[in-house]
Amino acid sequence: MNMAGKTVLITGSTDGVGRYVAGQLAADGARMLIHGRDTSRAKALTDEIVRAGHPAPTFYQADLASLAGVRELADAVLADHSRLDVLVSNAGIGSRTSGPERRNSADGHELRFAVNYLAGFLLAYRLLPLLKAAAPSRIVNVASLGQHPIDFDDVMITRNYDGSRAYAQSKLAQIMFTIDLAEELKGSGVTVNALHPATYMNTTMVREGGIAPISTVEKGGEAILRLISGDDVAGKSGLFFNGLHEARAHPQAYDVAARQRLRALSLELAGLSSV
Ligand SMILES: NC(=O)c1ccc[n+]([C@@H]2O[C@H](COP(=O)([O-])OP(=O)(O)OC[C@H]3O[C@@H](n4cnc5c(N)ncnc54)[C@H](OP(=O)(O)O)[C@@H]3O)[C@@H](O)[C@H]2O)c1
Repeated sequence: MNMAGKTVLITGSTDGVGRYVAGQLAADGARMLIHGRDTSRAKALTDEIVRAGHPAPTFYQADLASLAGVRELADAVLADHSRLDVLVSNAGIGSRTSGPERRNSADGHELRFAVNYLAGFLLAYRLLPLLKAAAPSRIVNVASLGQHPIDFDDVMITRNYDGSRAYAQSKLAQIMFTIDLAEELKGSGVTVNALHPATYMNTTMVREGGIAPISTVEKGGEAILRLISGDDVAGKSGLFFNGLHEARAHPQAYDVAARQRLRALSLELAGLSSV
């Protein structure tokens, strides 16, 4: 897909692999909508893009640890645009970001589930009218190979909390949502895929976790860019990729009943009674 003139929103594009992808797409002529919490990091990226001779991106500031923040982000994008060619749900926190202990979102949900999964779930539904208006259009969910099955008796992990499990649960939830949404969007021209970009890229999340990086944002960025614009994945939907290769996710992702339970719970938590 030629990205010139396409409108692309990437959550969490003020840092890490999202920042890299935003810069690459701006260079390809896309109209970039960047998002994060920090205005100075957004300004640094904007300056870099403009210095390179590309149009300034539009910055949307929102804290995805609050569903009100997600709604405000969606409302701002809906107010400014009539179409969206690509939505990349990339913002996330790691298993040790700000410490490995259990924390709640503003809405009282387990924080990693809220930021890494539920925010992208709500944002995708709120922005579907714009994506449908731009069809063929794409949603890319940046998940991970780290996946842990959801215990539906304790989704918020109130017992035996572990940051790695919480992170991996949120990442599997993204993949389950991807498969579920792809079914729902069949025939609409909107495709949705998920991926593990690369392992331990050199990003804030990885460094905060005390992990020595073993790959680059360029490597993970290439895999994300391929799902955004690759002609070879045009029309493909509901798939999980490990880097550039299609892969199997955790078996729970293919459990229809589990996906239905997650969908019902997510609609309720996100305040979307029916979609
Ligand atoms: N790094 C890896 O090796 C790796 C491997 C597999 C998957 N992934 C996935 O790749 C994605 C990007 O990760 P990264 O490694 O690039 O991380 P990163 O450098 O830590 O960047 C994370 C981004 O998410 C944003 N963010 C975090 N919490 C937020 C919140 N509450 N509200 C709004 N924005 C928030 C950050 O915004 P601020 O600038 O405001 O902090 C930042 O832009 C994540 O979904 C991650 O799970 C990464």
